[in-house]
Amino acid sequence: MTREIAEPERIAYLDALGVDVWRPRSAADPAETDEQALDTEKVDVSTLTEWAPLQATVAECTLCSLHKSRTQTVFGTGSTQADLLVIGEAPGAEEDRRGEPFVGRAGKLLDEMLRAIGLDRNVVYIANIVKCRPPDNRDPEAAEAASCRPYLDAQIRLLQPKVVLAVGRIAAQQLLGSDMPLGRMRGQVHSLPTHSLPVVVTYHPAYLLRTPDQKRKAWQDLCVARDLLRTAGK
Ligand code: URA
Repeated sequence: MTREIAEPERIAYLDALGVDVWRPRSAADPAETDEQALDTEKVDVSTLTEWAPLQATVAECTLCSLHKSRTQTVFGTGSTQADLLVIGEAPGAEEDRRGEPFVGRAGKLLDEMLRAIGLDRNVVYIANIVKCRPPDNRDPEAAEAASCRPYLDAQIRLLQPKVVLAVGRIAAQQLLGSDMPLGRMRGQVHSLPTHSLPVVVTYHPAYLLRTPDQKRKAWQDLCVARDLLRTAGK
């Protein structure tokens, strides 16, 4: 479970780590300039070497309008030692309420898919392209995904997984910067060049709930991911 970090604790954390944080005027030195007062967040996440300040930064993010309608951010969950990183699209209603990715019906199916290749959700890491729920469960927009991308890149950099499993068209297209239909993206191993990582693409579990006859193809994709993990472990 993720835990919301209180503002004073977050500031202390970031200060202790030597990370520069702009504070809102009300919480900071009244002598600050207006420009600084407007800039409530200026953390360069690409330099962070710890998970906690990254999560704290995400929890306070206001870079896109999705922050206005979220209950809380959904940072990611699982083992920070994981070899497999599962990337979905965006939190849904249940995830927004609980602060954890893939906890609704689709999440239950994702758990079963992972178990089918011998993995419990606690030994993998699960994150999304965007960390806030898009209103009415609409697809995240490209600009929203772009604002959130440094957070995902920082998660990948800290985790250093061996394999990425992108679930669903949006996750796969956004991650790989492609506009190929999902049916054409699956069946081959992609590469995430910035991180030199193999990426396997498969169907989103929510799609599989609606279209169970595609589960056989998802199983093939999972086997590819499992085999890559085995090879990487040797
Ligand atoms: N769908 C996603 O893509 N991510 C979640 O966290 C939940 C549902």
